[in-house]
Amino acid sequence: MNYRHAFHAGSFADCMKHALLVWLIDALQRKPAPIFVLDTHAGAGRYDLTAGPAQRTGEWHRGIDRLLDMPPPVLCRYLGLIRTPGLYPGSPVLIRAMLRREDRLACCELHPDDLFLLRRQFARDPQVSVHQRDAWEALSGLLPPKEHRGLVLIDPPFEHADEFSDLAAGLATAHARFRTGVLAAWYPIKHRAPVRGFHTAMRQTGIRDIVAAELCLREPLLPDRLNGCGLLVVNPPFPFEPEALPILQALLERLGHNEHGAYAAATRIADE
Ligand SMILES: C[S@@+](CC[C@H](N)C(=O)[O-])C[C@H]1O[C@@H](n2cnc3c(N)ncnc32)[C@H](O)[C@@H]1O
Repeated sequence: MNYRHAFHAGSFADCMKHALLVWLIDALQRKPAPIFVLDTHAGAGRYDLTAGPAQRTGEWHRGIDRLLDMPPPVLCRYLGLIRTPGLYPGSPVLIRAMLRREDRLACCELHPDDLFLLRRQFARDPQVSVHQRDAWEALSGLLPPKEHRGLVLIDPPFEHADEFSDLAAGLATAHARFRTGVLAAWYPIKHRAPVRGFHTAMRQTGIRDIVAAELCLREPLLPDRLNGCGLLVVNPPFPFEPEALPILQALLERLGHNEHGAYAAATRIADE
């Protein structure tokens, strides 16, 4: 496990994932019944952008830094949750900021340093549990939740080639355990073939109601470069596609460089 999210905190990929995550949680909270959120690959929780790894890569200068100045209206809700300049909230901190009194969050993390920071972040928080637990195993172990409503965020590091098949298998497990749950899985777009294969694998699971939201900054032809990313959503709350698309378009407008083949899309992979 070499991946450390601190190097990528606040990047364009984080902005895309987190802006849609905030939309999904807001949509689930339209009903008063409590929700459960499982963040299977939680990371450290909060990142200092002005020091250490984030400062060294500077990825956030091409991401969150470009959004905070005159925020596009569709991104205001997400950006409003970033309360301290220079300190970027990872997925567990963003989710925690949105929980109502009866909602719960469970986070899994395996890297000892990130786990330490995550535990410190949520020490004595009765609504958040932090588990030193393998994400894929947790999909069986922590689902279904007693609330019967909620969201599972699956955000693997994509350190090795077979992570697309792990992701498809993990989504199938999560769906089998928690049929009504909203499942959101982040994936990289480096070149097209693995993404097509992943979408095909998802269709072959027979799971209904799947949408792929994608933001690509250039034609995905460079296999060594993160050209774009996607969030595959199972059971998206209504109306996901028409509301996700303007979010993605606003991100593309601010974070893209008018490169050939750039696009923002919310594409149905499987019908309801
Ligand atoms: C992409 S980062 C997560 C970023 C975080 N979700 C966010 O949006 O702020 C992936 C994290 O998964 C952790 N990880 C990798 N493999 C894991 C596994 N099998 N189970 C749990 N955590 C894992 C890594 O240590 C890393 O912190």
